[in-house]
Amino acid sequence: MQSIEERIQELKRERGAIIIAHNYQPDEVQAIADFTGDSLELSRKAAELDEEVIVFCGVHFMAETAAILSPEKTILLPDQFAGCPMADMITAEALQAKKAEHPGAVVIAYVNTSAAVKAECDLCVTSSNAMKIVSSVPADQEIIFVPDTHLGHYIQEELGREMIIWDGYCPTHSRIREVDVRREKEEHPEAVIMAHPECPLGIREMADQLLSTGQMITFAAESDHKEYIVATEMGMLYRLRNENPTKKFYSVSDRALCPNMKKIDLEKVLWSLEDMQHRITVPKETADKARLSIERMLELS
Ligand code: 13P
Ligand code: SF4
Repeated sequence: MQSIEERIQELKRERGAIIIAHNYQPDEVQAIADFTGDSLELSRKAAELDEEVIVFCGVHFMAETAAILSPEKTILLPDQFAGCPMADMITAEALQAKKAEHPGAVVIAYVNTSAAVKAECDLCVTSSNAMKIVSSVPADQEIIFVPDTHLGHYIQEELGREMIIWDGYCPTHSRIREVDVRREKEEHPEAVIMAHPECPLGIREMADQLLSTGQMITFAAESDHKEYIVATEMGMLYRLRNENPTKKFYSVSDRALCPNMKKIDLEKVLWSLEDMQHRITVPKETADKARLSIERMLELS
């Protein structure tokens, strides 16, 4: 009898599909993916692929970003309810009201936002390019930054530049506690602490490196350090360990788990290919506006 992995590979060929996965996906999903990466790498990849069908193993805003960049392709999200609570902490209407309070402000949206919110923005950023892109905005220009308060404050502190920052946050990164990081550091004093900028201030202050998930992969591969404490979603450990077998990686906590990323499993990837579900589309008018902010990001990063 065919295994589920074999059936997925067969269907993938029949459908002319490719499977891409975020670094937080369950191990079994990362194992069958053709490409795994961070938000920016996945948006870039989706845009440059020849395949007409992309099974996007990640959360809704990521699949939507791919659909905005490649409206002619079929973007499938294996679980239609895999959302991002942080992205849901801001709506287009709420942002319009904030813009009305600050006419003339440049609006910068973290990629963790809906297409409708991106359509209200001037520039999009991910955690790997946010610092560079915010630096490119003239110093006297007012900035509204949405929706992640932690990434926003990290940029504000680093660049010494005041921004109007939304108060959204990632529930998964907010569950990482200072006591967890301290305990790991006491147990592994030689380890480098890598944290995601979505972490709260106390964790950011303890980190040796604040990195996007893709930057963590590169840093671990290139660094001479032998041990790493990983303060982000646990799915990161799969690639870090596989790609660096001689190094040691310690997760700060098994509470650092994104329930939405974990909604996707092998069965859902298979059903997605069998039924060509769930197709993610964005209305043309919204997509055309949102695309501008994403393309500006791709040009600047
Ligand atoms: P990356 O862009 O670093 O992959 O982060 C995406 C995300 O949702 C982190 O929680
Ligand atoms: Fe959203 Fe946080 Fe999950 Fe990333 S880890 S997708 S920010 S809830």
